Formats: sequence, structure tokens, C-alpha cells
Amino acid sequence: MLRTHTCGELSVEQVGQTATLCGWVDTIRDFGGVTFIDLRDRYGRTQVVFNPDAGEEVLKLVNSLRSEFVIKVVGKVRARPAGQENKKIATGGIEFLASHLEVLNESLTPPFTPGQKDIPGEDLRLKHRYLDLRREQMMSTLLLRSRIIKGMRDYCADNGFIDVETPILGRSTPEGARDYLVPSRVFNGTFYALPQSPQIYKQIMMIAGYDRYIQVARCFRDEDLRADRQPEFTQLDLEMSFVDSEDVISMIDGMMQKLAKDILGIELQLPLPRLTFDEAMTRFGHDAPDLRFEMEIVDCTDVAANCGFGVFKGTAEAGNFVRGINAKNGASKYSRRKIDELTSMVKEDFGAKGLAWFRCEDDGTLFSPIAKFFSEDHLEEIKQKMGAEPGDLMLFIADTWEVSCKSLYSLRKRIGAEMELYDPKQMHFSWIVEFPMFDRDEENDRWSAMHHPFTAPLEECLSQLDDAPEKSRAQAYDLVINGYEAGGGTIRIHDSAIQQKVFGLLGLDEKSAEERFGFLLDALRYGAPPHGGIALGIDRVVMLFAQLDNIRDCIAFPKTQKAMDMMTEAPNQVDAAQLCELGIEITDQAND
Ligand code: AMO
Ligand code: AMP
Repeated sequence: MLRTHTCGELSVEQVGQTATLCGWVDTIRDFGGVTFIDLRDRYGRTQVVFNPDAGEEVLKLVNSLRSEFVIKVVGKVRARPAGQENKKIATGGIEFLASHLEVLNESLTPPFTPGQKDIPGEDLRLKHRYLDLRREQMMSTLLLRSRIIKGMRDYCADNGFIDVETPILGRSTPEGARDYLVPSRVFNGTFYALPQSPQIYKQIMMIAGYDRYIQVARCFRDEDLRADRQPEFTQLDLEMSFVDSEDVISMIDGMMQKLAKDILGIELQLPLPRLTFDEAMTRFGHDAPDLRFEMEIVDCTDVAANCGFGVFKGTAEAGNFVRGINAKNGASKYSRRKIDELTSMVKEDFGAKGLAWFRCEDDGTLFSPIAKFFSEDHLEEIKQKMGAEPGDLMLFIADTWEVSCKSLYSLRKRIGAEMELYDPKQMHFSWIVEFPMFDRDEENDRWSAMHHPFTAPLEECLSQLDDAPEKSRAQAYDLVINGYEAGGGTIRIHDSAIQQKVFGLLGLDEKSAEERFGFLLDALRYGAPPHGGIALGIDRVVMLFAQLDNIRDCIAFPKTQKAMDMMTEAPNQVDAAQLCELGIEITDQAND
């Protein structure tokens, strides 16, 4: 080893000892003859002191040092003078009096320094990721990530799970996103698809008798990116045989309890709370609600049906919904101008036709530009339903179920944050269960799978597959943390006839089902046990545990919103010869 200690290790216990440290020059302060250098590595920072008596040669070298040079120093540990200790860092009780200095490598002047207070723009950070990854925040997040993955693996190993790798070059799996394709050289004109998840392989592992499987699996999805979505991301993928939903949920409950305790020091009470999908949509307008605060949606369609406000009455009569939320004590926070901003948001983002509001005055009466259309009794009824008290602001959307869900969900989320209705450090874990089996794909006039096509319906919904697929509910469950979908899974269909029926509902006739999934249908015919599982989005779990709001900050080498790697500049053009071997020609259109 070039070093005897790390830069985070020395303390008053080693005072008087000689040591050798290696690291990066973080800061240099020159006090006319005495130079202080903060030497940094993964473990921390140590204050290194060069005195005039270090000798001319050493001092000359000290003068040549610049930010991010890599150096080796030999010296002695001494206690800092009383009153000059730095309580913020582990090595703050000592300083390191250097006698020898060796420059292991120089550095160009960096476009930003890892220690600088203002965080540089993201493009610059991603381009020089090696510098960005030296920042303390990035290091602590990646260390946390490593601990979380180890915690997950340890828990799974303790519970008898087997770690199995599945192919990256495979056949398209239907998780609902666009595939990344890899052309085959041997069979020109054919393509592998990168896995959107190891879904089918893990089911085959169950059929093969490996009754508890896990994998830290990389998944690839070519979809529109957001702050919580990357084109390649990592799942803790898990599958179990001879289980029902309860078994999978309680296995993950235990894992979350252990992680929350070991990593955050939080005691989670089990079982984690559960809401059905219908309840979540009715009360919060979304299938991954943030349950750290209340402000539930209240349905006032019945009052609206009888009132004199045309928009409300018409909405109720058309079989749509008038629902609202009550921002407790929100009246003073939301001026007319701010309410106009909220109105524009719901109109532009969700196509809402408007946003109605009522303010509860000090004397308990309701004030609103539309109050004149309501009788005293109706106003009182609204007040009762909404639990309104002086100072409250109520917001209403009259629209279809979908528009009212999306608008009120978004209003609730924004107001919850703006009014600081929860402690951002608080963690809330819950399950959403009993999702619908299908979504309506209006464009193609058919059903699409809400989770994926291998999801089993609830026993009692089997018969609905024939006559009312829209009503059938799935044995599906999502883990929600602080309003984010952190994981999702289902019990699978293990009967090939039911699988074929579901494929049929999804618009895959027998022939195309055989063509695409014949191997799975075959496998299901060779003794498939009942099975089910889940996948947790590791990047999202890390983001939530680290209290960050962007998964790019939880991934060593993430991609931009346009799926680019700023450092390596992937994707990139390739040689004509390479394309020729693959039988691929780039058309002009592709170059536009
Ligand atoms: P699903 O598609 O719900 O299920 O994915 C599981 C979890 O993975 C995370 N996730 C993502 N994270 C970052 N970027 C993305 N683009 C992204 N997409 C998904 C989410 C999500 O909850 N095979 C099934 C699992 C199963 O049924 O067992 C699957 O992949 O946190
Ligand atoms: P209007 O009658 O369109 O002038 O609207 C009167 C008020 O009702 C305005 O504050 C509108 O934003 C609101 N409003 C209009 N349509 C709706 C709707 N569909 N849902 C909720 N509020 C609405």
C-alpha cells in the first residue's frame, strides 16, 4: 500500500505517530510560509500542514500544487491547538505535519472543483462525471446505494433466495415500453431486444423448480424520460413459487422493515398499510398517492346535482363528477393570482375546463365568485362535507373521472409541498392492491394489460374475463413510498388456457400468441407451479432513502433526458464496415 491511513482515519488517538496519506488536493491556503492543504479521499479530509522547516525542495513542490493534484505525504499526527478543532469532520481534532511530499499525478485546472459550494450545471457534471463523482454528496449516495443493495441481497439470502442471471440479449418482453434492439450479425435482418425486465425468464425459473429467485437486474426501456425514469435502470427482481399476494407482500414488508431500520434508523410497523386501487383513486386521484399528509378528495356530485351552478349541475347530470379538496388554512396562502396559476395548471396539463373555489371566512360563511348560484343549505352541505373551517380554501373540479383524478391529484401534490404539510424527512410506505386487469386502449379499440400480460386475475374475477373484462381485478400490488411507485408485482397466470384467454383479450390471436410466446405457453404446459413476484426499482428506492428528487443523482453514469451519455457521447455513429456486416443501411430519413 502506498498509504498507511486514509484521509478520514486519523484522530487524537494517533497523535505523535508517523503516517503516510494519499489523496486529492481539495483546498490550498497559504499563510506566508505555512501552507495548509485539505487532502481528500473517499473516506474524508485531513488538514495537512507544511511548515517552513520542511525544507526548500518540499516547499518548492508545495508551491506547484493545484486543485485535484494527487499527492502522497509522509508526516506526523499532531493535535490541533485548543479552540481550532473542526467538529464537523472526523479528523477535525488533529492536523498532519508533513515532512515529505510526492506528486503522484497532476491535474488540469478542473471546470469545477468537487468541494465548491455552488453545484455546477448538470450537463457539465455529467460530462466530467469523474469530477462530479468526487463530490461528497455523490459519494455518500453511491455508498448508500451499495448498502441498500447489500441489505436487499442479505435479506434475500437469509430467506433462501437464489441469485440467477438472465440474458441481456433476448426476445422482446412486453412491459409496455419501446424496446432497445440489437441487430444480429449472423442472421442479418433479425434483432435481439434488450430486456425491459427479466419477467419471462424468472417465471421459467419457477417452472424449472428454483422456487425463490432474485436478481439485481438491469432493465432497458426506450420511453420518455422524467426525473424518476431512466432508459436503463436497475431492479431488485424477485419471484417465488407456491405463494399468494399476501406472501409476496409480507416478504417485501420484512425487507423494507429491515432496510428502514438498518439504513435510516426508522422502525416500520408491519404490516404496511394497504389501499385498494379503487380507494386510492377515490381518495387521492392516483395509484401512487403521497400518504404523508391528508387533504383527501371529497365527492360533492350529489350536492352539485341540485345546485344552481350550470357547470356543476350539468356535470352531475352527464354522469360525471364534482369533487374537491380542502386546503386547510390555505385561504391566506392562495391569493387570487395564485389560484389563477393553479387553474392554468389543471387546464393546460389535464384539459380541465376550470377550477372552482370557495374560501371559508372568519364568520364561517363561504365566499366564492360562484357562491351566488348556491342556496344557503347547499353551501352548508358543502361546508359539512368538506369539513371546512375559517381560513380554509376549497378547490373543485367538475369533469370526467379521469380529469378530476389527475387534476385533484396534482393540486393536492402541489399544495401539500407548497404549504409544507409534511416533514420532507418522513418516510411513508404503503401498498396499493387489486389493480384492474386491463386499461382501455381507445386508439386501437382493445384492452391493454395494466401491469403485464402474465398477471393473474383475482379468483373471484376469473369469470369476468369473458363478460366484463373492465371490471376484473388483478392479483397485483405496488409498493408506494412518499408518492412514488417504488415497486410492482403480481401473482402470475400458471394455466396455459387462462394465459391464452388473456392474450386473446389483449388482441393477440392464437397464432400470434404462439409465435411470440409459444415457449412460455409450452413451459406452462409442463408442470408450472403457482407463482408470483415483484420488482423494486432500486434507483427509486435509493432516491427516496437519500431524500433526493432525481434518480440521475443515484446512478454512477446516468443518461440525460434525451437518453445520452454526456461523458462518452453515446449513442454514436459506427463504421460503415460494421453496418455492412449487420446488413444495415442508414437512410437519409434517419439522418435528418
Ligand atoms: P414494473 O414495470 O412495474 O414491473 O417495474 C418495477 C419497478 O421498476 C421501477 N421502474 C423504473 N425505474 C427507473 N426508470 C424506469 N424507466 C423505470 N421503470 C420502472 C419502478 C417500478 O415500480 N416485471 C415487472 C415486475 C413483476 O411483475 O415482477 C416489472 O418490471 O420502481
Ligand atoms: P364560467 O362559468 O366558465 O365563467 O366559470 C365560473 C367559475 O367556475 C370559474 O372560476 C371557472 O374556473 C370555474 N369552472 C368552470 N368550469 C369548471 C369545471 N368544469 N370544474 C370546476 N370549475 C369550473
